[in-house]
Amino acid sequence: MAALLSVDAASKRFGGLLANRDVSLAIAPGEIVGLIGPNGAGKTTLFNCITGYMHPDGGRIVFDGREITNTRPESICALGVARTWQVVRAFGRMTVLENVVCGALARTSRIGQARARAGELLEFTELRDRGDAPAATLTLADKKRLEIARALATRPRLLLLDEAMSGLTPLETAAAVRLVRRIHQELGVTICVVEHVMEVVMPLSHRVIVLDYGVKIAEGAPQDVVRDAQVIRAYLGERRAAR
Ligand SMILES: Nc1ncnc2c1ncn2[C@@H]1O[C@H](COP(=O)(O)OP(=O)(O)OP(=O)(O)O)[C@@H](O)[C@H]1O
Ligand SMILES: [Mg+2]
Repeated sequence: MAALLSVDAASKRFGGLLANRDVSLAIAPGEIVGLIGPNGAGKTTLFNCITGYMHPDGGRIVFDGREITNTRPESICALGVARTWQVVRAFGRMTVLENVVCGALARTSRIGQARARAGELLEFTELRDRGDAPAATLTLADKKRLEIARALATRPRLLLLDEAMSGLTPLETAAAVRLVRRIHQELGVTICVVEHVMEVVMPLSHRVIVLDYGVKIAEGAPQDVVRDAQVIRAYLGERRAAR
């Protein structure tokens, strides 16, 4: 099957630091792919390059058959790629509903339609009863949910989740995992998740890609990746030891 997203030898340099080094990967329609690796491995940088917030210094990124390598974020969003931010970026003074309306306005200029879509997504993300609250007053778990609702309001075919489940309590994490599964199953969205919590990312992902110092060091089924000696050395060993 043709890839929905393909990244071909993408590199991104910050001064002397190569944050992504010839990273190649493909995501098929309908997949949930986990993107893991130590702090500073280049996961967020790769999301930034895919979504047009940064442009890679080398390589090529193709979404649904179209090259998007040097395309602007709003155009990439219009093609059907949405993301959440590792550090939540809700518009704090706006209400929860208004935040999601902003996402919906990427698809329609009619405010009534945008409000209706935003209402549906608040229902879907179980935020309906917080709709009139200023976004700044939400708990972290609800802020992360709001980020997801706003991203979904742009009607993505590919959703990139950057630590959308980190920092949550176990109960909140379980609810967030259920939400991600529903986005995949009920909305048919292809998903790439960056997450440090292995108990979350491994059962959720069909396939896992591992970055270390900007380089893709492994890729495969979760049960194989956790046994990969290089991955254990670079990342999993250190995480086990930290527990
Ligand atoms: N805008 C920037 N300017 C300079 N350096 C940057 C910039 N963004 C990221 N970096 C550096 O690039 C490297 C990769 O960072 P990145 O945020 O992509 O890592 P990450 O895998 O998302 O890490 P984490 O798990 O901590 O979120 C790091 O060394 C980081 O300090
Ligand atoms: Mg990051």
